[in-house]
Amino acid sequence: MSNIFTAVYSVMLLALSMAASISIFSVPSSAKLSSSSSFSSSAEAKALLNSGWWGNFSPTYHCNLGGIACNNAGSVIRMEARYKNDYHYYYHYLYNENLADMNWSSLPNLEYLDLSDSNITGGIPVEIGTLSKLTHLDLSYNYHLEGVLPTTLGNLTQLVHLDLSKTDIGGPIPSTIGNLSALAHLSLNSANLGGSIPPEIGNLKNLVEMDLSFNNLRGSIPSSIGHLSNLANLYLHSSQLNGPIPSSIGNLSNLANLYLDSNQLNGPIPSSIGNLSNLANLYLHSNQLNGPIPSSIGHLSNLTNLYLHSNQLTGHIPTSICKLKNLKYLDLSENLLSGQLPRQLGRLCNLEYLGLRRNEFIGTIPNGLIYVKPLHENMMITDVLDSRLLPPTNPTVAGDIVLVATMAFACLDPKPKSRPSMLCLSQEFLSRRKALVAPLRTVSLWNLWNRKMDFVHQSNEHVISAQV
Ligand SMILES: *[C@@H]1O[C@H](CO)[C@@H](O)[C@H](O)[C@H]1NC(C)=O
Ligand SMILES: *[C@@H]1O[C@H](CO)[C@@H](O)[C@H](O)[C@H]1NC(C)=O
Ligand SMILES: *[C@@H]1O[C@H](CO)[C@@H](O)[C@H](O)[C@H]1NC(C)=O
Ligand SMILES: *[C@@H]1O[C@H](CO)[C@@H](O)[C@H](O)[C@H]1NC(C)=O
Ligand SMILES: *[C@@H]1O[C@H](CO)[C@@H](O)[C@H](O)[C@H]1NC(C)=O
Ligand SMILES: *[C@@H]1O[C@H](CO)[C@@H](O)[C@H](O)[C@H]1NC(C)=O
Ligand SMILES: *[C@@H]1O[C@H](CO)[C@@H](O)[C@H](O)[C@H]1NC(C)=O
Repeated sequence: MSNIFTAVYSVMLLALSMAASISIFSVPSSAKLSSSSSFSSSAEAKALLNSGWWGNFSPTYHCNLGGIACNNAGSVIRMEARYKNDYHYYYHYLYNENLADMNWSSLPNLEYLDLSDSNITGGIPVEIGTLSKLTHLDLSYNYHLEGVLPTTLGNLTQLVHLDLSKTDIGGPIPSTIGNLSALAHLSLNSANLGGSIPPEIGNLKNLVEMDLSFNNLRGSIPSSIGHLSNLANLYLHSSQLNGPIPSSIGNLSNLANLYLDSNQLNGPIPSSIGNLSNLANLYLHSNQLNGPIPSSIGHLSNLTNLYLHSNQLTGHIPTSICKLKNLKYLDLSENLLSGQLPRQLGRLCNLEYLGLRRNEFIGTIPNGLIYVKPLHENMMITDVLDSRLLPPTNPTVAGDIVLVATMAFACLDPKPKSRPSMLCLSQEFLSRRKALVAPLRTVSLWNLWNRKMDFVHQSNEHVISAQV
């Protein structure tokens, strides 16, 4: 066995040296050799062969391997695990390989490395730092990729796109990440990362998107983050971050999405947040933020979703919030907010959801609020049911749904005297179940609100008239 192996190996070495001489011989003088770092074609072929990732192949043709692309000079510049066909089916060139089996030091001209979603294992080797031409590194969706982020990652100063999300890499984010000055997209979400966010991250001036969500990051958000003036999307949610939201965050004038929710952030919401005029989504919920909602929040004219629930916010709802004409979702529930609800809140015509429960408000609900969006349009009851579930086919079940929805609307009547009594509600729920005559999809919320119950058997109608 070992003799055969030795023989095969010698033949391979012979082929390798032939390949080397051929490639030296065949490179035309016009080839753009200047764009390549000094490389050895035979060393590149040998690294690919020794990895075992493509099985056996003739080293002369290593540039023709699936997922490999070379430059004019014959040096490897791209490596991809997958090929996507016209029908969006993925064909794997590489699957189930170990990163450590590749001699990365032999591939000095590699620019594009995408081994995402291919069940690669092992850790990210320190030799990754030798790939100084790399602009794109994607090892995401490899749930068995482990180890830590090597500090040599900071050597990849040409890197524009770094995605190591959905992996099992642990440990901290090395401070050398601040050396990746060309980086535009940084995605390290769900990578089991710990430690704190290094302040050097503020050096990444070209960053457009930073996603560090779903990790175990501790410590506070470095105020240097305010230097990332190109940032459009900042996702730091669902970690263990604590301390205050740095007021420098108000510097990020291009920010459209700011997700800091589900951490242990405390202290006030900085009023500088009102400077983020491009903000569309602000998710600060499920933290320990305290103090008032800054009235500067009324400057965020592009805001569509504002989630502040499950904090310890105090004081009144600032009336400036009523200027947010694009607001669709406003959740203020589970705070310590008090006082009257601003009357103008009812004028937020785009509002589809308003969460106020578990606060300390007094007074009445402003009238307009009851008429929030679904009642303006021809929204059907099937539009608001959980779309993951099939609509009921049984007319009795459909009748139950209509009954419950009608009762809920009746309880929301702005005139307390028009709301049904508890006795009336319980009688109705205990009464014989009624089948719905018309199909459920023909029932509009507007009809339920107006108690136009003609599509339901008669006795449901009687409840409606009974409580007026
Ligand atoms: C990896 O490649 C480098 C450069 O080609 C070479 O010096 C080194 O010996 C190789 N390492 C192994 C383990 O083959
Ligand atoms: C992915 O890799 C892990 C670890 O090597 C292995 O246990 C698992 O069977 C692999 N999954 C597939 C689908 O190949
Ligand atoms: C990092 O880059 C420097 C300078 O380009 C180089 O000397 C060093 O060997 C590199 N380190 C690694 C681990 O590749
Ligand atoms: C890389 O980052 C480290 C730590 O932040 C720093 O000490 C070092 O000077 C940086 N190297 C380069 C080449 O910028
Ligand atoms: C805010 O931006 C200005 C100018 O862009 C910059 O000079 C300042 O250092 C930044 N502040 C913080 C705290 O990042
Ligand atoms: C926010 O804008 C105001 C002026 O509109 C300015 O005085 C303040 O320094 C800004 N704050 C930040 C953190 O950018
Ligand atoms: C708001 O959103 C619109 C459309 O998405 C965009 O054109 C505009 O620049 C954004 N910013 C402000 C301040 O309105």
